[in-house]
Amino acid sequence: MFDFAPSDAADKPLLYRELCEAADALTSGEPDGIANMANVAALVWGFVPDLNWAGFYRVIGDGLVLGPFMGRPACIRIPLGQGVCGTAAGEARSVLVEDVHSFPGHIACDANSRSELVVPIVVDGTVKAIIDLDSPLPSRFDDEDRDGFEALAAILAARI
Ligand code: SME
Repeated sequence: MFDFAPSDAADKPLLYRELCEAADALTSGEPDGIANMANVAALVWGFVPDLNWAGFYRVIGDGLVLGPFMGRPACIRIPLGQGVCGTAAGEARSVLVEDVHSFPGHIACDANSRSELVVPIVVDGTVKAIIDLDSPLPSRFDDEDRDGFEALAAILAARI
């Protein structure tokens, strides 16, 4: 049984250090990327407060394909360059959206989503997948969340 939990969810640097340690422990030695993404989606869901969607899209061909996640069923395919996810993947950079209604081309998979953070997972200079976080709260994500998920993405680069 795995029993990971943050010791203080209000302390973001600590939360992300503990999240990364737990993700590292969960995925260490496991070569199956889908299994690792599935466990990390569940881990993030339990660790990070105020989310209504947390998961992965994989880059396959010239688009993104839905990967393991927690939350409501979501759009399966997103072309590179479209939406928040396709922008992050196409430009190989994190995209933090304080208000999804003001992001041109935002793809609404869950009408409750108000803010979003998407972080690419880069392997050998190529975006292999993205981590997508949605929140029902406006301006839920800040630079500390982005830094924390970028640290998680760096760990996962060798594990997916
Ligand atoms: N909102 C995303 C689509 C994916 S869902 O949020 C899970 C986007 O605009 O790319």
